[in-house]
Amino acid sequence: MEMTYIDTPADLTMPIGEAMFSQRAIRRMRHDRPVSDEELKTVLDAASKAPNGGNAQPARFLVIRDREKIRAFGKLYHEAWWAKRRDEYGWTGKSDIPEGSVYKMPALLADEMVDAPVVILAFTVGRGGGASSIFPAVQNLLLAARAIGIGSVLTTLHADVMERVYAMFNIPDDAEFHCCIPLGYPRGRFGPTRRFPTAGTTSWDTWGAPPPWK
Ligand SMILES: Cc1cc2nc3c(=O)[nH]c(=O)nc-3n(C[C@H](O)[C@H](O)[C@H](O)COP(=O)(O)O)c2cc1C
Repeated sequence: MEMTYIDTPADLTMPIGEAMFSQRAIRRMRHDRPVSDEELKTVLDAASKAPNGGNAQPARFLVIRDREKIRAFGKLYHEAWWAKRRDEYGWTGKSDIPEGSVYKMPALLADEMVDAPVVILAFTVGRGGGASSIFPAVQNLLLAARAIGIGSVLTTLHADVMERVYAMFNIPDDAEFHCCIPLGYPRGRFGPTRRFPTAGTTSWDTWGAPPPWK
């Protein structure tokens, strides 16, 4: 494949700090405001700019736009999400999820995936780092989406559904699946993210020694 240069897309004007510090997992999406093909090109162009092993550029993205295909995929996503909870906790339905659990919203996404405005599946092919090379690209994609106001959330699937997902989209066996990203304009308000302070997650010169800002 021939390599090309791309200018910075005109719609990526949000300062990088604002994009990083306001990005969060958006699971409720608007159905009355579509994501355009141009916007999808912008986020995929941003993904293409990411670091990757040896510049082999193994990242490949499957964009699911067709409503019927999203519905069919969404059903498999729902099955996959519950298969993961079954494996982890033995849960089989919503009444098993404890009050206040962090899984309440992801369970809602499992229901809503059938109506996601767009879904992108991320893969790698051939050499060039596999997961190490897809996640910088995925993060660029998520940040670019945030910068143009589009919400997204990184999710995974489960072995139970993989064969059917590959068959559904005619995905070759040598494409390795990594994650699934629904995208859409956010529905409702979303607040800031809460994270551990870096004073507690960073060591300085020796493991366990605090950074200067502790
Ligand atoms: C490897 C990985 C797997 C994830 N899987 C799911 C998932 O299956 N369902 C979901 O709703 N969110 C999933 N997420 C999103 C996380 O729940 C989210 O990034 C985290 O809770 C922080 O959310 P916040 O940025 O809104 O604070 C996943 C994120 C990562 C990085």
